[in-house]
Amino acid sequence: MTDLPGDRPAPVAVVSGGSRGLGRVLTERLLAEGRRVATFSRKPNEFTEATAEKYGDAFHWAAVDLTDTTAVRDFARDVGRRFGSVDLLVNNAGVLHQELFLTTAPKRMDELVAANLLAPLHLAQVCARLMMRAGDGTIVNISSINAIRGYRGVAAYAAAKAGLEGAGRALARELGPLGIRVNTLTPGFFDSDMTAEVTSSNRMKIQHRTPLGRLGTVDEIADAVLFLASPRARFITGQTLVIDGGITC
Ligand SMILES: NC(=O)c1ccc[n+]([C@@H]2O[C@H](COP(=O)([O-])OP(=O)(O)OC[C@H]3O[C@@H](n4cnc5c(N)ncnc54)[C@H](OP(=O)(O)O)[C@@H]3O)[C@@H](O)[C@H]2O)c1
Repeated sequence: MTDLPGDRPAPVAVVSGGSRGLGRVLTERLLAEGRRVATFSRKPNEFTEATAEKYGDAFHWAAVDLTDTTAVRDFARDVGRRFGSVDLLVNNAGVLHQELFLTTAPKRMDELVAANLLAPLHLAQVCARLMMRAGDGTIVNISSINAIRGYRGVAAYAAAKAGLEGAGRALARELGPLGIRVNTLTPGFFDSDMTAEVTSSNRMKIQHRTPLGRLGTVDEIADAVLFLASPRARFITGQTLVIDGGITC
């Protein structure tokens, strides 16, 4: 276990989907800051294996599918037993399938809502109970501009992300008196595996409609998450921060 000066145990961050994309960068940066990090994804990869080797007990990865909300709750409870506390939860992992609403299979809609809305709520509940004991904690939910602007082919994803934003405001009211801050980060398009399938003509359209003229980088999104998670944001709760190069302005 990594200890901060003064023998205080290192703070613990739970990051869903820490194997790739934004979750990977957050995991790397939180570990480098001296936090312990617990994360999950469906599959391990070179990053999770190398990080487990490098950081030992300060890093925990497990195979969990977001659509299995019982497994998600079990993961968070296990983190509580392993590390004794949780200081930060980043509800990062998300699942996007672009498909027209009229032809989307009912099972697919259920999975999208389970992965993008129910799983984050279950994680938040278990983690908030652990944070409550310390009277301190922060939750950052990762939404999407699909929650605030209409795009074709993403109805269930958009509904789930909008639900997450609403839940964030309600939770900020309920958990604030317990010392827990809850905020939402709403990114526009940024480069990751999720956007790797965007065609070059759609990419050009996005760039054209974005005042800053480009997609975001994963590090720029991580900067905003780490700000909301930091003491510099200690009087910010119940807010939604849109980080999209201006595409929704
Ligand atoms: N990229 C964008 O342009 C963009 C824009 C707006 C919002 N967002 C949001 O930003 C967040 C991060 O996106 P990203 O682009 O970094 O995603 P990404 O590169 O696709 O990475 C997703 C991470 O979540 C894990 N994951 C995916 N499906 C999972 C499942 N069913 N169960 C458990 N883990 C799962 C992945 O690992 P496995 O595949 O091994 O499970 C991976 O670690 C998401 O909430 C996304 O909705 C992204």
